[in-house]
Amino acid sequence: MSLLQLIGKAAYKCILSSNKKSDFQELKNLFSRVQKSDLNFTACSDYDLDKYRQIFLQIFEDTKIMAFIVILAENARIPLHDHHQMNGFVKIIEGCAKVETFTPVKEGRSPSEIICRRELEGEITSETKSCLTLSPNFGNIHQLSAINGPCAFFDILFPPYESDFFRLIKLHLSGSKTNCQASPGVRRIPSCT
Ligand SMILES: [Fe+2]
Repeated sequence: MSLLQLIGKAAYKCILSSNKKSDFQELKNLFSRVQKSDLNFTACSDYDLDKYRQIFLQIFEDTKIMAFIVILAENARIPLHDHHQMNGFVKIIEGCAKVETFTPVKEGRSPSEIICRRELEGEITSETKSCLTLSPNFGNIHQLSAINGPCAFFDILFPPYESDFFRLIKLHLSGSKTNCQASPGVRRIPSCT
């Protein structure tokens, strides 16, 4: 069985067990091993990133899961957003990305504010042995940008979108380094991570 088949099987197991901790970890372990050769992905340079700053390649989608590759031109950024009530796994397969993730911890002073805890701020590359994960309760608000050249990442999300909506989050850093205020707003976009 190929690595992708094992990932698919582990993802369904995770869905059926409602993200039992051991199933989530099994999927994370498998996902962390993905390389671009597993996806028959050749190189970012094969794509016209001067014309298209972000390219979305759909790999698979059914009623339970969606899988895709995103290619970003150097300095292109997937802005701060969340995948509400979804789980996500992200593995860089080429290049380097700067990543930030946040977990909402409480409502802000107005309906348009959420107080968040910063979970991760760092750089991950195709050499990084682990993958980035997000869940409904951890690190769901996130952003990625390609640094030091273009980058590509493999991403799975479940359950999949019922429409092409995700939430863009406006971030206002507050006095604390680990807490921030975020203002959510729903926007329609053609594709997302
Ligand atoms: Fe995303």
